[in-house]
Amino acid sequence: MKQTGRLLIALVIGCGVTVGAVAQVPKDWQAPDITKLPDDKYGQAVRKGKALMEETYKHIGPEVKDVSKRYAGNNLACVSCHVDAGGRKFGNPWVGTFVSFPQYRGREDAISTTEERINGCMERSMNGKKLPLDSEEMKLMTTYLQFLSTGVPVGAKLEGGGTLRLKTLARAANPVAGKQVYAATCVACHGDNGQGVRRGKAGDANGYLFPPLWGADSYNNGAGMARVTLAAGFIKGNMPSGVTHTSTVLTDEQAFDVAAYINSQPRPVKANLEADFPARKNKPVDAAFPPYTPGFSAEQHKFGPWQPILEAREKGIYPAK
Ligand code: HEC
Ligand code: HEC
Repeated sequence: MKQTGRLLIALVIGCGVTVGAVAQVPKDWQAPDITKLPDDKYGQAVRKGKALMEETYKHIGPEVKDVSKRYAGNNLACVSCHVDAGGRKFGNPWVGTFVSFPQYRGREDAISTTEERINGCMERSMNGKKLPLDSEEMKLMTTYLQFLSTGVPVGAKLEGGGTLRLKTLARAANPVAGKQVYAATCVACHGDNGQGVRRGKAGDANGYLFPPLWGADSYNNGAGMARVTLAAGFIKGNMPSGVTHTSTVLTDEQAFDVAAYINSQPRPVKANLEADFPARKNKPVDAAFPPYTPGFSAEQHKFGPWQPILEAREKGIYPAK
């Protein structure tokens, strides 16, 4: 009897501590050290998962010999946008990602798993098709993601997640001004036509030294990077390659303008984007595809200014079904 009583008290206290409590926010973090992992089956899977994300083009890219493995539609790597193999603050890090799924996702208006989120990037950022949920590649990628969350409590919100969230401009982002920024700061690596620099030659599945920013081998118009606010935050915190959020070189205006320039160039088009964000109130104001918020042009959704669209949304005006 006495023991049951104690157990009950422990449970009640336990519930009081955890239920509804926000997991502590670890202020400073870094990716766990992969070199400390033993060379056992788990360590090998983590290393293979990391390699898949670093050299995606070599394993599941459009140029790999085994046609059945051509899941990605471009020769980018996951780490083209998830900088330092997912270990960099404001470089779309993956530290803490695994323990934040399953989560509610506005784009689908449903609960998504880690695997489904990876496939979101496969179909958009990688302009390809879904990896089968039970495939070896999916297992290896999620194992690496799980390793990156070692010691991070479930539900913790880490500082430095995603990309820098810049305060939006009062004016529209200007692709013409952005072209100047591009010519001065980006062209040396990403090329005159945003084509990047290949490590070898087309067809060899060796990917890029400097990835393309537009054209047929880039992310499609349904990708997160196709949104000007997200691209501007990524660029400000990570580009030109070598800068971090503590050593930025672009002003916010330059970041928005060059993001507008890149995203006004041709790129692969994803079919059926109208089906994104079925709960229209979730649709980001800079998602540059129909249906649009009534009263605002396609152009304003793409380049801003976004504040007036946000204000309309606050009054309950949303894109039509
Ligand atoms: C062109 C850039 C780009 C590429 C390439 C890319 N991603 Fe992403 N990824 C993003 C952006 C941007 C986000 C955040 C998007 C948002 O907030 O809507 C993201 C988010 C994610 C997330 C969710 C992270 C979190 O903490 O919520 C996962 C997981 C992910 N990507 C996995 C991958 C994998 C695996 C690959 C390669 C197969 C990949 N990504 C390739 C840009 C990219
Ligand atoms: C010194 C070479 C270099 C310069 C200069 C540079 N980048 Fe990058 N960029 C890279 C590399 C390398 C990556 C892959 C991520 C990484 O490892 O940092 C990248 C990735 C990117 C990506 C995401 C991947 C993709 O293909 O879409 C974008 C967007 C981008 N750069 C934009 C810019 C912009 C805009 C500028 C100018 C303000 C710029 N970069 C300047 C080397 C460079």
